[in-house]
Amino acid sequence: MSVQLNQKNQNNYSQSSVKDLSLWEQLKEDWIAHGRDWTKPGFRAVAVHRFGVWRMKVKSKLLRSPLSLLYKMMYRKIRNTYGIEIPYTVQLGRRIVVEHQSAIVVHGHCTIGDDSIIRQGVTLGNRYLERPFDAPKLGKRVNVGAGAKIFGDISIGDGASIGANAVVLKDVPPGATAVGIPANIVYSVKSHQ
Ligand SMILES: CC(C)(COP(=O)(O)OP(=O)(O)OC[C@H]1O[C@@H](n2cnc3c(N)ncnc32)[C@H](O)[C@@H]1OP(=O)(O)O)[C@@H](O)C(=O)NCCC(=O)NCCS
Repeated sequence: MSVQLNQKNQNNYSQSSVKDLSLWEQLKEDWIAHGRDWTKPGFRAVAVHRFGVWRMKVKSKLLRSPLSLLYKMMYRKIRNTYGIEIPYTVQLGRRIVVEHQSAIVVHGHCTIGDDSIIRQGVTLGNRYLERPFDAPKLGKRVNVGAGAKIFGDISIGDGASIGANAVVLKDVPPGATAVGIPANIVYSVKSHQ
């Protein structure tokens, strides 16, 4: 019985959203996702993002202001040292892995689902200057190859893979693989059914 209950709790835990976890719980699973190496720039970038979101829960502006100052200093340090920009306004899921560092730019209106991976040289951003708030939404378990660019208000489905150096301008269905410039679907779950 207790085993069943524990399993139920574990399932609930693994399905819960990032908002249901304490900052410590988030950092712990991010650290595990980054190979238990706190020196990895990707882990540090995600950790600073988590802190940036967490400090917004402090309602009093007076109490929040030193935390905000600390967040801004750490954000700039991560950006200037490792070349990783993930503003706290990004909707980051659980256990996001930032594999390697340098030239990683994520638009503040992006969503990145649980267990997704982004790598060096990846840009997730707006496509047109005159539509500055358009930003991609990545589902869960999306695997973004090195150097890939994903632009505009588009959706990348759960479990999709984006090839290295692809430039993605259209929606990618769940489970599909998109490669090239502009990116085309080379493998889709449907085509193999
Ligand atoms: C996209 C990717 C996941 C495809 O894996 P896959 O599903 O096994 O697909 P395949 O290798 O069978 O390739 C399918 C087709 O796409 C082509 N292709 C694969 N990756 C490509 C890429 N990045 N750019 C352009 N074409 C690519 C292949 O040549 C193949 O074309 P063909 O059918 O004409 O021969 C993989 O090639 C990739 O780019 N991974 C990113 C890895 C990465 O960033 N590593 C960095 C480590 S630090």
